[in-house]
Amino acid sequence: MDTSATHFDEATVKDGESPFTGRNGVGAPKDEYRRDNKDVSLAALLSEIQKTADFPLAEARTLPSEAYTSKEMLDWEVENVLGAGWICLAHRSQIPNPGDFINLDTLGEPLIIVHGKDGEIRILSRVCPHRAMDIMPPGFGYDGHGPADRRMGRECGHTRLFLCPYHHWSFELDGTLKGCPEMHKAEGFCREETALKSFRCEVWNGFVFLNLSGDAASVAAQYGELGHDLAGWEAANMKVVVEKTWECDFNWKVLVENFMESYHHLGAHCKTLQLTMPAKGTWTEQERSHSMRVNLPYKESIPTSSENDFPPIPTLDQEHYHQMAVYLGYPSFLTFTGPDRLFWYRIEPISPSKSRLVTSLLLNDTALADPKYPEKLAVAEKMLIDFHLEDMEVCTAVQRGFYATGYQRGRLSHLEMPIWLIQRYLAARARGTYPCMDRPVAPSQK
Ligand code: FES
Ligand SMILES: [Fe+2]
Repeated sequence: MDTSATHFDEATVKDGESPFTGRNGVGAPKDEYRRDNKDVSLAALLSEIQKTADFPLAEARTLPSEAYTSKEMLDWEVENVLGAGWICLAHRSQIPNPGDFINLDTLGEPLIIVHGKDGEIRILSRVCPHRAMDIMPPGFGYDGHGPADRRMGRECGHTRLFLCPYHHWSFELDGTLKGCPEMHKAEGFCREETALKSFRCEVWNGFVFLNLSGDAASVAAQYGELGHDLAGWEAANMKVVVEKTWECDFNWKVLVENFMESYHHLGAHCKTLQLTMPAKGTWTEQERSHSMRVNLPYKESIPTSSENDFPPIPTLDQEHYHQMAVYLGYPSFLTFTGPDRLFWYRIEPISPSKSRLVTSLLLNDTALADPKYPEKLAVAEKMLIDFHLEDMEVCTAVQRGFYATGYQRGRLSHLEMPIWLIQRYLAARARGTYPCMDRPVAPSQK
């Protein structure tokens, strides 16, 4: 298997088997020459992004390629966009019991998401306060000598306390120090003040969010409209039943843009989504400060449900039985909904041209109790993979284009309003504000 190209986690793909075959056979060529970033300052780039975002939708165009290739740009985003906002890391169903935890790294922080003995979900650093050891480095516990294990492509486990393998300091599930051998001669050492660092964490609709800057307005305050959109799914009671990890050779914004715009149903999904949700009928709702919603109505001739679907969720508004919808909770919380399910995408940057994506499917208890659950789940899982392969292909090829002198800034269709709204979000962040706060609100397309 070509590990330099986009690929599944090892749980999904057997050795020697590539997911890129047939139409989706295009990945990034190996060892291709790639030009370094062109010499554009961050200030000039942010200024150009603001200028671009201020065009009306009818005159909208793409950003300079450096917005997707520059390390300075990514560093700026980590501080002002991703780190300043809420990043969704997990769903409560993945750590249902006290002592359950997930290990993951994001934006350079090795983290534990843990369900405490008091029922609280916390996000702790895995960096030991003694000598900086990662207390559960990747792979830790695979030999049965630690609490961490690998399930569904994710490092997770169950424990009563955390033990640093280096010098055996131990920590309670809330991060406080429990034991530290042979430290009685360390003068002035204060056990009570020594703990794993704790990050700001909020659970919203079952999703566990991290705010690195520590000063963002609450998730509920930012995602009020999004919460209204998603209310019918009762996501807090859903369970993550499928999770796929994808190593991506493209900038994190390439995925966010691709996820939100449905113009590409015409090309990339011409044999799949275009047949059920034609690009022409999709439309974007009024601009918001912290989220975005795009509606993808079913083609009229398409029945609202098939034998492979789970029972429609009875608490949904009527409109949701005849469409899917995609949502972005800025900066990176991506979901899309169908009448019986909810998909969640978690994208995190690794470098300007590399990202890690985790695609998840959530179902409710009615679906889990369906007598045909295994067969229907297999169909849902295949669908999640098949149309995402189509997206992987185009996103990978787009990133290559950013490095070429042949790159030209293109004009956008009105169906790409989500891309324009994302530009307006970035521009607002560059001005230290949010969309709709210092510019007129862009109206709904319907
Ligand atoms: S580094 Fe953790 S106990 Fe020493
Ligand atoms: Fe797509």
